[in-house]
Amino acid sequence: MSRALLTHNLTKRFGATLAVDHVDLEVHEGDLFGFLGPNGSGKTTTLRMILGLVYPTGGSIEVLGKPVPRKVRDVLPRIGTLVEGPGFYPHLSARSNLALFDAAGPGGAKRTRRARIEDALERVGLGSVGRKPFNAFSTGMQQRLGLARTLLRPHELLILDEPTNGLDPQGMRDIRALLEELVAQGTTIVLSSHLLGEVESICTRAAIINRGRLLAQDEIARLLAPTGRVRIVTDDPGEAERVLGASNGFHSVTRDAAGVALELGGASPEELNRRLVTNGVDVRELILERPTLEDVFLQLTNERGARVPG
Ligand SMILES: Nc1ncnc2c1ncn2[C@@H]1O[C@H](COP(=O)(O)OP(=O)(O)O)[C@@H](O)[C@H]1O
Ligand SMILES: [Mg+2]
Repeated sequence: MSRALLTHNLTKRFGATLAVDHVDLEVHEGDLFGFLGPNGSGKTTTLRMILGLVYPTGGSIEVLGKPVPRKVRDVLPRIGTLVEGPGFYPHLSARSNLALFDAAGPGGAKRTRRARIEDALERVGLGSVGRKPFNAFSTGMQQRLGLARTLLRPHELLILDEPTNGLDPQGMRDIRALLEELVAQGTTIVLSSHLLGEVESICTRAAIINRGRLLAQDEIARLLAPTGRVRIVTDDPGEAERVLGASNGFHSVTRDAAGVALELGGASPEELNRRLVTNGVDVRELILERPTLEDVFLQLTNERGARVPG
């Protein structure tokens, strides 16, 4: 499988601040890749280095097979970008801003410009924005226009820094649907976010960064692998607890009004279910517990946090 983006030992120091600390990112072609971390963790700095906007202190970057910053001019036309401070002309409308941007970049035919602009505005929900100048836009509208700019022509890779910042819940849903559509059409997307739920709901793979350090990087399904704990919902939790007690080889059994929870240990869910049913306990639901991305994040930051002072 080809790699759309690779970084190796990528590091950025601002004076005494180690903003990015030996980060190895690996984005596969076709990924909707979440770059997740709290505010100040180094996401924007990393993305800016990948786009050749900030010079790394150390390490290497390869984007679409080319070394960056050395070959950044070759790869930039193949990448759509949305990074902090979208850089639009404040007194011009959405359409005028997009027309200027399109005229300045390579490969945007003038003949198709108007149609491409209308299509891009439509896709981000700004079709009826009219002639309102950019400086009268809400944060959400600015963000939508920044995304529209990446849609003026097809790109192999989109690098989006917190693309849903400033959007209301409906706006976030719209943008997520748009990103999923783009990935289905073959675009690779890297998006940064401080919102766990957002990454959990749409991304296929994710990297988790905290204080400049990469804590984990994997497929979402693997990051959220079952914990080994199960919950059983039943009308008779007391009997379920007795059947699954320590004397029968199960551990950490806890009971509440709705049922019991326990560690599977070596047993399979099927075995557990059979044991209950053959002992006269009706099972309404048997649920394999999965951590949320938030659980994973907190666990990783606590583990590493203990070993990294300050
Ligand atoms: N130009 C800069 N000069 C000095 N420090 C910076 C600069 N840009 C970012 N930083 C610092 O680097 C760290 C990471 O910031 P940033 O990459 O913006 O994080 P994030 O995007 O995850 O919120 C922060 O401590 C921030 O204050
Ligand atoms: Mg940022």
